[in-house]
Amino acid sequence: LNNGVARTPPMGWNTWNTFGCNINETLIRQMADAIVNHGLRDLGYKYVVVDDCWFNPERDAQGNLQAHPQRFPSGMKALGDYLHSRGLLFGIYQGPLDQTCAQYFDSFPGSTGSLNHEYQDARQFAAWGVDYLKYDWCSPTGTINDQVARFGIMRDALAATGRPIVYSINPNSIHEKTGPQRNWSDVANLWRTTEDITNAWDTGQTNGYPMGIQNIVNVNVPLAGYAAPGGFNDPDMLEVGNGGMTDTEMRSHFALWAMMAAPLMMGNDLRSPSAATLSILRNQNLIAINQDALGQQAVQVSHDGTRRVLAKRLANGDVAVALFNQGGSTTTISTTAAAIGKSGTSFTLRDAWTDGTSTTSGTISASVPAHGTVVYRVSGGGTTEPPTPSTFRLRSESAG
Ligand code: DGJ
Repeated sequence: LNNGVARTPPMGWNTWNTFGCNINETLIRQMADAIVNHGLRDLGYKYVVVDDCWFNPERDAQGNLQAHPQRFPSGMKALGDYLHSRGLLFGIYQGPLDQTCAQYFDSFPGSTGSLNHEYQDARQFAAWGVDYLKYDWCSPTGTINDQVARFGIMRDALAATGRPIVYSINPNSIHEKTGPQRNWSDVANLWRTTEDITNAWDTGQTNGYPMGIQNIVNVNVPLAGYAAPGGFNDPDMLEVGNGGMTDTEMRSHFALWAMMAAPLMMGNDLRSPSAATLSILRNQNLIAINQDALGQQAVQVSHDGTRRVLAKRLANGDVAVALFNQGGSTTTISTTAAAIGKSGTSFTLRDAWTDGTSTTSGTISASVPAHGTVVYRVSGGGTTEPPTPSTFRLRSESAG
């Protein structure tokens, strides 16, 4: 979407993965302070997004949304002011139908979705200082055309406010439908491509609820052609630091999200992160690959059984390459400079995890542990045509 924002994938933190509906203004202020104190804001993690359950179950007499009186007694404008005072940006959650997901699926009361209140709500968000809207479709009914129309109304309502607001949509909160996949860049800055993530490596789902890390990668990699500055595939928020995975798996999760030009929205409790968690979230080599100005999503170069190679072209002519081992034992994964779109005979490889460098005349290879991902930034030589994805294939548009 060409609205001036999200020229690179947004980075930040969202309440949902750890706290669900158990949110309040004190918690969010603490998390904002933690983002600043851990140096995460200065690495780019700017958007603090208040997900579902922030609102009063009823609108006021004029039909305006209101903050939940017990959870957010100071109101949403005050929360936005606090975030802005800390050099952060303010994100909020709503849905295009009459109920949010927590109202539809869970027991959160009321019916406060934006249906037929889109322009009023967009003006309200702008008045509160909102910089990011997550807009979540929660109903088993509705065709793809309904979704395009409804999501489009809020796109236009946000534009009418004149405030730059990142527009993040989720057409996937319908367990019966999960999709269909579409290039949503005419509608939004970010669009979810799968069902909800969970803190597991593999849930055995192809696109059902919930999704493990490698299940999401399988769905999101073939959609690489849709990503560009202003519009990115959204394979859901990070589970780094939430347990359920080995450190190797968490590093793969972060590395692959960086390569896939995914929004890097942390989803863990930042008040007491482990050293391992912080070192993953603060990896500047991977953040630079994710935030590269070309805004490309890594394409698949090869997929040989459990050995998967992805390549992401970068603005300065470098190419980032990921050697991803989906198998259960250590294996050597190899590709070549030519295969990832580099010409020449002399290259430098910078390992994103160790920060060490090595040189090669063309072979790019590493021993990769089970579920691990080695990422190199390849520089030197020239660039050729982008690598041709070996399995660029969309899921059926009629997924039902
Ligand atoms: C479904 C979304 O996928 C989640 O990220 C979260 O926003 C919940 N809805 C909130 O109800």
